[in-house]
Amino acid sequence: MAYKQEYQASIDDPTAFWGEKARALDWYRAPQTVLSTDENGIYRWFADGELNTCYLALDYHVANGRGDQLAVIYDSPVTDQQRKITYAELLDEVASCAGMLEDLGVGKGDRVVIYLPMIPEALISMLACARLGAVHSVVFGGFAPPELAVRLDDATPKVLLTASCGIEISRVIEYKPIVDKAIEMAAHKPDHCVVLQRPQARAEMQDGRDLDWREAVAAASPAACVPVKGTDPLYILYTSGTTGKPKGVVRENGGHAVAMKYSMSAIYDIEPGDVYWAASDVGWVVGHSYIVYGPLIHGCTTVLYEGKPIMTPDAGAFWRVIAEHGVKALFTAPTAFRAIKKEDPEAELAKQYDLSCLQTIFAAGERLDPPTYEWLAEKFRVPVLDHWWQTETGWAIAANMHGLEPMPVKSGSSTVPVPGFNVQILDEAGNRVAAGEQGFIAIELPLPPSCLATIWGDVERFKENYLETYPGYFTTGDGGYIDEDGYVFIMGRVDDVINVAGHRLSTGEMEEVVGKHPMVAECAVIGRSDELKGQMPMGLVVLKNAEGADPDTIVSELVAMVRQDIGAVAAFKEALIVARLPKTRSGKILRKTLRAMVDGDDYVVPSTIEDPAVLDEIKALL
Ligand code: COA
Ligand code: AMP
Repeated sequence: MAYKQEYQASIDDPTAFWGEKARALDWYRAPQTVLSTDENGIYRWFADGELNTCYLALDYHVANGRGDQLAVIYDSPVTDQQRKITYAELLDEVASCAGMLEDLGVGKGDRVVIYLPMIPEALISMLACARLGAVHSVVFGGFAPPELAVRLDDATPKVLLTASCGIEISRVIEYKPIVDKAIEMAAHKPDHCVVLQRPQARAEMQDGRDLDWREAVAAASPAACVPVKGTDPLYILYTSGTTGKPKGVVRENGGHAVAMKYSMSAIYDIEPGDVYWAASDVGWVVGHSYIVYGPLIHGCTTVLYEGKPIMTPDAGAFWRVIAEHGVKALFTAPTAFRAIKKEDPEAELAKQYDLSCLQTIFAAGERLDPPTYEWLAEKFRVPVLDHWWQTETGWAIAANMHGLEPMPVKSGSSTVPVPGFNVQILDEAGNRVAAGEQGFIAIELPLPPSCLATIWGDVERFKENYLETYPGYFTTGDGGYIDEDGYVFIMGRVDDVINVAGHRLSTGEMEEVVGKHPMVAECAVIGRSDELKGQMPMGLVVLKNAEGADPDTIVSELVAMVRQDIGAVAAFKEALIVARLPKTRSGKILRKTLRAMVDGDDYVVPSTIEDPAVLDEIKALL
């Protein structure tokens, strides 16, 4: 029982376990202190170790015979382009990009915001920051200027890196006007904005502040790796919480590198030299961990795909990439498979390709629903493995540990806790519940390496959000249960976070935007089940004075406001004008009941409801 032994060892003696795993990396100074607590009483990993994440991802491999191996395969159906980059070439490009950043005054601990589409420069600039010990913060391209502005103010970067445009299927999205607007809105102004001009759009440059990427890199000398401490931050990645202000999850160099290295073999069963493809975006945590850092630290070839599962050009796009590049493991969000299945239910397009290289399919970002699981398993005849994780952890909390010991799959379950994660199901009072009983999913402390130890600049918010609900535990925000065999079943968020097409969004944030409309008295945004995207946001809106108001006009104004303030990625397209919202006697909106009602599920009218008739009024409108 390799898994059981490994898991037990990780829980019984985390220090010995992770101390041993850390030896797989080439540290400048091996950590003597594996686990410690900091001045805030928070567990930290490898505090006195010294390393450089970019060195581990590039220089180490070039020095050890992988210089000529492909590090990155950039495959871009939207520009009809491909580029293959070896480890030696990538090292040169990253060192020059780091040199450019150094010339702009970026050093250890400084922040750099990266707002780029899925092009090699995204990955190159992340590694360049890591090389200097600078802290990158990548912002997903689908976010609108106000979202970028909030992140600029929170991360206070010296430099912002961007491109003239991104391409959504065939639509060219100009990035520079978004960036200019965000800088105008933000109180913090980066000293410089470096722009990669793409042929599909030409960015207007601002004298003094903006620099041309290619010219600036050409003028720079390569920079060397700067050693950092295990606990020094590698990146900040903002994620949605329950309020409007996104949380800056801080990832530390040491724990992250150890977890990345371990997971590539223990979870993904991948060897150095293999081709690995996470079809996600560098703007999300999956992209950070498994497009960039995991595969490169492990010496693999990573695929950087600038396209969609469908329409670029068809639902066979993923199968083409797999066959053409010899992908051994594919990792994506279930939504992508649902989109493919909808277009090509019999997977006819897959038959055009030789997929014999593909050994496993991994899914995460949202629950892998049983029909999608069954379709994949039947059509592709390889293990289809759901695994559960969050931006906060940076890697899987529950998974089928395929590289240790493949376990039988139970449809609807993300399998078992990953070594290091002491996953427990708690009731409201914090007591552990029996097997099979649903509750709040918490992880007993210490969390394993790579998990966040603070929110950027706000350790109190970190403690309050994650550590104070159940002392001794980290609360995940997810609900679910563990069955008699120890299998973990995730049933969804227990807070105001929703998952739309595998993208994590806050309904609270959308409510703040909707609430700004002058006609809106109050509103609730809930996640409604959606066959393709898993969930879609839906607004229920009470107007200040409904008389004479045209509901269709107001709804389209609300849709436009959310798109403008948060971005297209919020996919807020539906709102219903209602006379009243259902509330408890103390004034709390009954969102759970609303959600069940909108989905057509059975629901119990809560005893705390102020006026049950409100539910009937809304039901009549659906
Ligand atoms: N830059 C700018 N706009 C973007 C964007 C980006 N990087 N990514 C998405 N958008 C826009 C889309 O164009 C779309 O705009 P629209 O409302 O004008 O059509 C909107 O944001 C919503 O995007 P999305 O939710 O992705 O829906 P879609 O209908 O464009 O595509 C899928 C549907 C299923 C093809 C797509 O959601 C997908 O590939 N999902 C996989 C999810 C994934 O990789 N998740 C990462 C976590 S693992
Ligand atoms: P993110 O931080 O964007 O990775 O989103 C994390 C959230 O996505 C989790 O808290 C879950 O609600 C959801 N999630 C991720 N993976 C899974 C999964 N395999 N099964 C169910 N939910 C998942």
